[in-house]
Amino acid sequence: MKRFIGFNAFRIFFLFLLIISCKAMAQNQQKQDPIDVKVNALLSKMTISEKVGQMNQYNGFWEVTGPVPKEGNAKLKYEHLKNGLVGSVLNVKGAENVRKLQEIVVKQSRLGIPLLFGFDVIHGHKTLFPIPLGQAASWDLEAIEKSERVAAIEASAVGINWTFAPMVDITRDARWGRVMEGAGEDPYLGAAIGVARVKGFQGKNLKDSTSIIATAKHFAGYGFAESGRDYNTVDIGSSSLYNTILPPFKAVVDGGVSTVMNSFNVINGVPSTGNAFLQRNILKGKWNFNGFVVSDWGSGYEMIDHGFAKDLKQVAEISVKAGSDMDMESYAYLTHLKSLVEEGKVPIKLVDDAVKRILRVKFELGLFDNPYKYCDTAKERKMIYHPDHLAAALDMAKKSIVLLKNNHNLLPLAKDQQNIAVIGALANDNNGPLGSWRIGSDDNSAVTVIEGIKKYTTDFVYSKGADVVIGKTDFINEVKINETDTSGFEAAREAAKAAKVVVMVLGEHGFQTGEGRSRTKLDLPGVQQQLLEAIYQVNPNIVLVMMNGRPLAITWAQLHIPAIVEAWQLGTQTGNAVAQVLFGDYNPSGKLTMTFPRSVGQVPIYYNHYNTGRPSPKDVVFWSHYSDESNKPLYPFGFGLSYSTFEYSDLKVDASKPSAIKVSVTIKNNSEVGGEEVAQLYIHQCVGSIVRPVKELKGFKKFYLKAHESKTIQFGLTNRELGYYNNEGNFIVEKGEYDIMVGTNSEELLQKRITKK
Ligand code: BGC
Repeated sequence: MKRFIGFNAFRIFFLFLLIISCKAMAQNQQKQDPIDVKVNALLSKMTISEKVGQMNQYNGFWEVTGPVPKEGNAKLKYEHLKNGLVGSVLNVKGAENVRKLQEIVVKQSRLGIPLLFGFDVIHGHKTLFPIPLGQAASWDLEAIEKSERVAAIEASAVGINWTFAPMVDITRDARWGRVMEGAGEDPYLGAAIGVARVKGFQGKNLKDSTSIIATAKHFAGYGFAESGRDYNTVDIGSSSLYNTILPPFKAVVDGGVSTVMNSFNVINGVPSTGNAFLQRNILKGKWNFNGFVVSDWGSGYEMIDHGFAKDLKQVAEISVKAGSDMDMESYAYLTHLKSLVEEGKVPIKLVDDAVKRILRVKFELGLFDNPYKYCDTAKERKMIYHPDHLAAALDMAKKSIVLLKNNHNLLPLAKDQQNIAVIGALANDNNGPLGSWRIGSDDNSAVTVIEGIKKYTTDFVYSKGADVVIGKTDFINEVKINETDTSGFEAAREAAKAAKVVVMVLGEHGFQTGEGRSRTKLDLPGVQQQLLEAIYQVNPNIVLVMMNGRPLAITWAQLHIPAIVEAWQLGTQTGNAVAQVLFGDYNPSGKLTMTFPRSVGQVPIYYNHYNTGRPSPKDVVFWSHYSDESNKPLYPFGFGLSYSTFEYSDLKVDASKPSAIKVSVTIKNNSEVGGEEVAQLYIHQCVGSIVRPVKELKGFKKFYLKAHESKTIQFGLTNRELGYYNNEGNFIVEKGEYDIMVGTNSEELLQKRITKK
């Protein structure tokens, strides 16, 4: 017995020694992280003003390559740069401009800490890719990553080293203009796409001169603005916060995103910029995020309008305490943070923490080794619109197109199709199809649909029918829609009458979506619906090509028009991509990532909703429905046709290992043409301690099948996919019955029920 006690005591002592030495080793290793060492050394030399300077971001500057500014705001900003009071700028681009500004801080400020140059590179820089919602419809993570790689190569060539993308806000309300900027309504797909986009921007190694840091935005809840009106209040329950809004952010943080941007909105009564629960407890606490948080444009200042801060000084205090590290355009830190520290209202350790995070990112990017690594004018000339970039943009554009309807195989048109009438102002527009949020790009640089069609045939007539917008369009002003002028209808009807097939290109101008561009209607803007019906009366053989930055309720078109192609705003290569789909050189493979409503009154409408207590029709009115419209969407999440037809069979689910469930399904291409399909796996937990959505996407695979080929596709479900967050934010996995569903979209599914032990 004694021996036994002695032996055990020895073991405990040994274990104790081991723990102590492991801890010491870990501490030592931490100490030895070379970046930490450098950050701490630099921090120890900084004055409070210089620290605050790093937390300050300014928009734009004077003509930097011109003379030194002598007066006004420009002079002030110049002085601030020289004095190390600026950590980053946004909206400055051009290798030469960037070099000039970088030189001011590096050569003239006391510590020479290089600047970060931020810019909204949202779907390409010069070579424009489809709007992100369009790209998401490809469900092709590799192509999406490649798009962002190209965007980063072009952006870095013009001096930009930081993009304010990806937007990983989940969006369910098509009225909100910024749905164009995200990946749609699903958190699982949104997370996967967010990670791919970050990888594309940040590259394999941040030190590479084509890598730029990415930003996950807008943290958090911005996509849930009430009534779809931009900047509006967000009020959501814990379950939606933990299971819908946060997962894409968590995924990109785990994927190594360098920065996170907070948001304009109030969430459950607290503006995001002043939200310590989100930024400190969750992001930097639970998730261990070690990059930095930048505010949204003036979102600190806006806390005064929200009624959360009484003045700019309080804005600074609330923001820094809540974990907002860099102030974009509120001037709150620069004006008040130093005195707040001196007055003892803000502990210096909070400032130090923010500055360390910012410096760390600058070291990781290699800016201290070479502050001019993005300032090569020869490279700038070479990389912009590089042929490889145009090829990648075409590839992405084709993959983003979704075939919504194709009665009697009206599409694809024969390669030698004669006698086509092309109608609609957007068919001849080289600006609208570039989409919104493209501030680095060149206006009027898209290949038009007409130009694309010309590569196949010249046997067509074009008749505009009606303008979509009136006058000039740009990023900051409201677009003016043509609501009255139908003077071109008659000519268009004549053209249509004489044609074998009519291609109508209708939808939204690119500047009808994006920030500050919410709509209450989801119809074809202006007189376009009228035009569609007028043409239909004389020739119903119509292929409708839709250009839009959000889901539209094109219910009439779905009922009447035989072929409908969703072409979003596809960017630089718009016309080429559309033409390749119309003439069958590319077999469409895109699938919607946002539900299309039948009527605006249905929004927010999304596939992964909860059941109600009264989901099924009854003889009397007392069930959950509308009296004037069906509950069904026009097109469900995941929907998209192909020139091939795919048949699903033989769903097998092996749940013998409860935390490694195996799912397989056979898919056959029952057609004469090869094509790509996206098989989608959904689950439904039948009973949960919190009610579970009727369906949740938990896997997808995109693959090619030759004509008549069939393949068996395998999926795996682990606890990661089967679990969810409870209302305390803890991830739980529950036993019980689950429905496992696989199919071509969120409604056409094969299903098996399993019991998870
Ligand atoms: C937007 C951000 C953007 C920032 C800088 C804001 O208005 O909400 O998404 O990154 O401006 O341009």
